[in-house]
Amino acid sequence: MKQPVRVAVTGAAGQIGYSLLFRIASGEMLGKDQPVILQMLEVPFEKAQQALKGVMMELEDCAFPLLAGMVGTDDPKVAFKDADYALLVGSRPRGPGMERAELLAVNGEIFIAQGKALNEVASRDVKVLVVGNPANTNAYIAMKSAPDLPAKNFTAMLRLDHNRALSQLAAKTGKAVADIEKMAVWGNHSPTMYADYRFAIINGESVKDMINDQEWNANVFLPTVGKRGAAIIEARGLSSAASAANAAIDHMRDWALGTNGKWVTMGIPSDGSYGIPEDVMYGVPVTCENGEYTRVEGLPIDEFSREKMDATLAELEGERAAVADLLK
Ligand code: NAI
Repeated sequence: MKQPVRVAVTGAAGQIGYSLLFRIASGEMLGKDQPVILQMLEVPFEKAQQALKGVMMELEDCAFPLLAGMVGTDDPKVAFKDADYALLVGSRPRGPGMERAELLAVNGEIFIAQGKALNEVASRDVKVLVVGNPANTNAYIAMKSAPDLPAKNFTAMLRLDHNRALSQLAAKTGKAVADIEKMAVWGNHSPTMYADYRFAIINGESVKDMINDQEWNANVFLPTVGKRGAAIIEARGLSSAASAANAAIDHMRDWALGTNGKWVTMGIPSDGSYGIPEDVMYGVPVTCENGEYTRVEGLPIDEFSREKMDATLAELEGERAAVADLLK
């Protein structure tokens, strides 16, 4: 049996946490031969800590053979101590009447503190996934607050958008999700994201040619994927949690264990390619191997795509400007 690895999860008593922790402990994220120690962070309020205790009792009651230990805490430095993986799920939701700037500021404070704590106590190889919204900007803030860790260790979750796009394409083409390759989502995890199937293939055949309907792309597909979160809230009365947890598992599993040449989407700090300024936490297609992700390079960007990619970039640049003062 391998040595256990330490997996930190914030917002552990929340809805996504409840769908996520049991799957990590069962080996779905890092493999059925990889023991894990769960290090769970919640806010220091009694209700949240009490709920976290309940989740830990249930984890115990599953008697997972791979669960080698558990820590529940309200201190980021305890949760992130020697962490090999950190899933930053907890964040402040937008309250009634809360302005976007205010939301960015309260979350800015959370992710500055968590970035600093990761910087201080986490493994130098820690792989960080930010799920809590605004995910890209929160990941950017954490990265900037952890100067001693490699910037490439910080990522934001675009995988739910990626998976949503795959399912829409499978439905449209009547093919299996598993057969779709080379799908990409660019930009921010928000309705401005640009799901791009220009390069996608199914058994070697072009998905774009198969669909051959730009109207559908612009007026049905992109709005459906972009507004899916809102549609789920309307239908369920609660935001997507199981699918978000599933996407987080997919993201981390692929990063850790590799994609076998398949493209997946990750929000990663830009290297300046595709006209995206350096450091912007932007969704791009990647492949993963040996615990590292590699951006898919050199894809042609047509006029429609440029416009979409610039619009989602503009939103991210706006968010980055709004938190610039906090990061000084
Ligand atoms: P939730 O409200 O059920 O749970 C969030 C939990 O985080 C709460 O228990 C809260 O006490 C905790 N929390 C808040 N601030 C914290 C902090 N500073 N440290 C530790 N814990 C903290 O929310 P849910 O449904 O679990 O969603 C979590 C986040 O994920 C939200 O920001 C949501 O918008 C985001 N999300 C992101 C998606 C993505 O694709 N990137 C998809 C779906 C949700």
